[in-house]
Amino acid sequence: MAMAISSLLRPWPLAMATMMVLIIQAQGITRHYDFNVQMANVTRLCGTKSIVTVNGQFPGPELIAREGDRVHVRVTNHVAHNMSIHWHGIRQLTTGWADGPAYVTQCPIQTGQTYVYKFTVTGQRGTLWWHAHISWFRATVYGAIVILPKLGVPYPFPAPHEEVPVIFGEWWAADTEDIMSKALKVGGAPNISDAYTINGLPGPLYNCSAKDTFKLKVTPGKTYLLRLINAALNDELFFSVANHTLTVVEVDAVYVKPFTVKTLVISPAMTTNVLLTTSPVYPNANFYMAAAPYSVIRPGTYDNTTVAGILEYHKPGSPSTPGLDKTLPLFKPTLPFFNDTKFVTSFTTKLLSLASKQYPAAVAQSVDRRFFFTIGLGTLPSPKNMTCQGPNGTQFAAAVNNVSLVLPSMALLQSHFTGLSRGVYASNSPAMPLSPFNYTGTPPNNTHVATGTRLLSLPYTTSVELVMQDTSVLGIESHPLHLHGYNFFVVGQGFGNYDPTNDPAKFNLVGPVERNTVGVPAGGWVAIRFLADNPSVWFMHCHLEVHTTWGLRMAWPVQTGPKPNEKLLPPPSDMPKC
Ligand code: C2O
Repeated sequence: MAMAISSLLRPWPLAMATMMVLIIQAQGITRHYDFNVQMANVTRLCGTKSIVTVNGQFPGPELIAREGDRVHVRVTNHVAHNMSIHWHGIRQLTTGWADGPAYVTQCPIQTGQTYVYKFTVTGQRGTLWWHAHISWFRATVYGAIVILPKLGVPYPFPAPHEEVPVIFGEWWAADTEDIMSKALKVGGAPNISDAYTINGLPGPLYNCSAKDTFKLKVTPGKTYLLRLINAALNDELFFSVANHTLTVVEVDAVYVKPFTVKTLVISPAMTTNVLLTTSPVYPNANFYMAAAPYSVIRPGTYDNTTVAGILEYHKPGSPSTPGLDKTLPLFKPTLPFFNDTKFVTSFTTKLLSLASKQYPAAVAQSVDRRFFFTIGLGTLPSPKNMTCQGPNGTQFAAAVNNVSLVLPSMALLQSHFTGLSRGVYASNSPAMPLSPFNYTGTPPNNTHVATGTRLLSLPYTTSVELVMQDTSVLGIESHPLHLHGYNFFVVGQGFGNYDPTNDPAKFNLVGPVERNTVGVPAGGWVAIRFLADNPSVWFMHCHLEVHTTWGLRMAWPVQTGPKPNEKLLPPPSDMPKC
């Protein structure tokens, strides 16, 4: 060890150092992580709860890599539940087996078993995150993925003084698995959460919680890079820091054209990097950094609380203070009204690709296949001899073009790869609604959805355009839709029903934002484009966990190309079995 360090410190001849940098730049290094899934007792909001964690940490460990690095994460399951972990937003080029969604790309890791996820970080830089991808375990099993640019490559914005992950979460006093399975049993809606958290801490606005407050200690006149991640299960969040502005520089590990706001909105699954520059002089005050939900659904059916952390200035010349100086004034930000869709639209339309020479926006100018998906809630009839707790005694369901996806008891990718899909899934999910209706008007009487394991197959390098249309069947709602294995470009969005004749003329095909999760606007539509150049089976779903549970999910098997680097690698030998 001592030798390794001294050889690192020894001043190398400059040429050799440069050469090493170039080699590492070209090839990257392999980063090894050990993730032990284990129980831990955590006390929040006046109560102690036993939760599933990685390595006993909540939130879980941060995963750091540089663009071009290989990452090996050895996950060992020590808990009594099945587990799987998803590297949210990582493109997984040719390594679909490492993507993580249970019953889509893998069977879950059973108690006592180990699976090593192996992937390379290619063409991405910024913030992503990892989370459990089975049942509702992601409520406590999540953490940040920090992707640094290649060695020697600077950020396309001023280098920050410090970088800080700020992860929003959602906390239930009761056990989330109990809540979810009870809701499914009665066909009703699951109980709403009791608090939001910042880096696992609910903060001073909840009972027994003041000591569990995230504090960001800052120095005057410096710039901080906040790596924001919304890991909440069911809620989109507004976020603001009192008396400070936030400059958005990246979303979903893609640089954007910088713009400055006082408040931003971040949906579950999304990541947003912002620069926060502190006051040049010591302000003699502290500042709340607060988040509260954006929701257009009926008040009372979502958690309408506020999480706050504190931005605390280090007083120049004074020794670092152990506690918060309570004699100082504490400023609070004003967040938008809970259903301020106008604010959300004005924020999302500011997001554009950086589209520079170094970071171009490679949006497809032509399209091979067009799809139109209705995205929304519906109902399923109650089982025989039972009255469910959904609308009019039905059970809640959610669907894409009326199909509520049922996951099989083996992995979809397994049956796709072996060619044994028969009896596991059908490739006939509708490319458009079977019977078009006024999607955002008065809903038709028959709102029932159908269950099935129906997917949509794509030939290699299909250029896809997908319009996703929110429906008013059970009330309009905004849905953060996430596509695995790809980034896509958000070429257009609007309210009301999508107009295939006139709306495409307004598409931005020059520098639209590129990301992996997009909000289907409440009572509106969004159009995305992506190139199906990554063979595997890719999950796509609403990242509001309650909607995923109700079936708002589908999957795209993508065929392989002719060249060796256009094929999915064979399954790793330690692939978990069902
Ligand atoms: Cu954040 Cu299916 O994933």
